Amino acid sequence: MTKVITTINEDILSKNICFIPTMGAIHEGHLSLIDIGKETNLKTLVSIFLNRKQFNNDDDFKNYPNELEQDIQFLERKGVDYIFLPQESYIYPSEGVPSIVPSKVGSILEGASRPGHFEGVLTVVNRLFDLVKPSHAVFGKKDAQQLFLIKDMVNRFDLNIEIIEGEIFRDKNGLALSSRNKHLSPDAKLNAANIFKSLQNVANEINLGKSFEESVEQGINLISQNEINLDYLEIVDEENFNYPNKYSKKLKLLTAAYVENVRLIDNLDIKL
Ligand code: PAF
Repeated sequence: MTKVITTINEDILSKNICFIPTMGAIHEGHLSLIDIGKETNLKTLVSIFLNRKQFNNDDDFKNYPNELEQDIQFLERKGVDYIFLPQESYIYPSEGVPSIVPSKVGSILEGASRPGHFEGVLTVVNRLFDLVKPSHAVFGKKDAQQLFLIKDMVNRFDLNIEIIEGEIFRDKNGLALSSRNKHLSPDAKLNAANIFKSLQNVANEINLGKSFEESVEQGINLISQNEINLDYLEIVDEENFNYPNKYSKKLKLLTAAYVENVRLIDNLDIKL
């Protein structure tokens, strides 16, 4: 039986928890993270908390999909042990919680386009970790830079939490699932699948021996041919998010783009 809770009590703290934090608008991508959580055989706890602090744009916060009743049904059907629905005053009490400043990777890519975003993410994730005290936590690889910074925070603060990574869940056309997709019309969803196709094209060109610069340039042109407004398409070394060099073994292509004014992000690993 799933329990819906609004605070963390002694009963929960006495258990080993696998934690799956979300901002709600649950979709199959979240459900796949929960499946991974269940494989740990620990109690699964899913939080739904729309964290105002990680939105640098008020309209973006206000327009974020809110489907709480349906979310609860999905999570109950999935058989999670706890659904944690904290109030804002429980997460951010008046005495304040420490703000977590990201390492320098937090100021590039998403961090450059959305100032303060990663500080907001790390602050809430650290607060949630402090409340839930999980032994394991699952995060999706779609938010690759977020995942990198959360792992970095866990290392920096020596938090005893195992971070488990969930693969990107895509629709049949390749569009990465995201709560924001709910704002896209069917046509826009089809068009948005070109984002992934362009990433695949860049990866193919690199594997065929073309330079990083030329391959990325080609990807940028491909994305821009469609009604997609590109923010960035960049390549990094997966280890440190620096520009890759001849010693790099695993690369990551990362992109953010707007379709019908909806901000979408995606990424693709390239093994050399
Ligand atoms: O990835 C998300 O949904 C959010 O950034 C997270 C990790 C739940 C923190 O609010």
